[in-house]
Amino acid sequence: MKPRTPVYITIAIILVILFIMYFMFIQNISFLSSPYFWFTVVIAAILAMIQHAIGDLIENDKFKSLSDTEKAEYLQSKQTPYFKSLFESAFKKQPAGDEKDLLIDHGFDGIMELDNQLPRWWLGLFYFGVAYCIIYMLSYWLTDFANPIKEYDAEYKAQTASIAEYVKNTPPPTIENAEYSPDNIAAGEEVFKTNCVSCHGEGGRGGIGPNLTDNAWINQPEKTLFKNVFHMVENGSPNNPAMQAWGKNGVLTGFDIQNVAAYVYHINQEQNPITPAEGGAAPQGTVANWEK
Ligand code: HEC
Repeated sequence: MKPRTPVYITIAIILVILFIMYFMFIQNISFLSSPYFWFTVVIAAILAMIQHAIGDLIENDKFKSLSDTEKAEYLQSKQTPYFKSLFESAFKKQPAGDEKDLLIDHGFDGIMELDNQLPRWWLGLFYFGVAYCIIYMLSYWLTDFANPIKEYDAEYKAQTASIAEYVKNTPPPTIENAEYSPDNIAAGEEVFKTNCVSCHGEGGRGGIGPNLTDNAWINQPEKTLFKNVFHMVENGSPNNPAMQAWGKNGVLTGFDIQNVAAYVYHINQEQNPITPAEGGAAPQGTVANWEK
């Protein structure tokens, strides 16, 4: 007869398992302050103590049927503290006598196979893993828990909603409040490539539309370069319908115009002009003196 695991160890293990289970479903530790969690803990602890008490009764019964030496041996083994005996049993070698009983009737090259019992902790972990797997699979297939497609959907919806909310609460820039920002150049380049490159050429070198990299401008309705570009894209050219009113026609939003104006400002002010010798269109209009 072997001494049994103390009840506080069983309760501690149950506590850890409950913690893992709750954490798995709730995904944060807020349940620690929930009465449901502590209710399950108390119920589980009571069940563990009942189980232990029943174990005590069975143990008493068995003890009576032991011989005197076995009784003495058992009482002796009960003296060793639980963790000490656990440690010792982990490193204990099988006595040769026990091995004879476990021997399976085949071997090879002097190596014999023993039919040892699996350690209890190993079996416990195994059954826990099986139970965990079943619960996980059932909740995966039958509930919304841990389903990547549903999680993705929910996140996607939340994000589109927050973008819509942002756009609704942030009116698009107008010529009055639009500002140049280097952060908008890359986005502006995309707008340019999609809508403008067919007429204004690669990098704004010019073609059907004028060269946007030099300092000669046909239309100069505004005092600063950035506002001038915004104005032209918003309203189009009064002289040439080929340059349509992208903003007024509703093709581009205020955000797009602010971005593309930053791009045109960038290629005009922060890069060297593409001269006719380099494949740029010849300057058109008059030299501009932009205010800063
Ligand atoms: C269908 C051809 C075409 C497209 C597409 C086009 N433009 Fe133009 N753009 C022109 C023409 C032609 C002019 C010259 C208008 C004039 O003579 O007044 C012009 C003029 C301009 C001017 C003023 C230049 C100056 O010297 O006065 C700017 C700035 C400009 N376009 C920017 C853009 C931007 C930004 C886009 C893209 C959103 C774009 N354009 C798309 C043909 C086009």
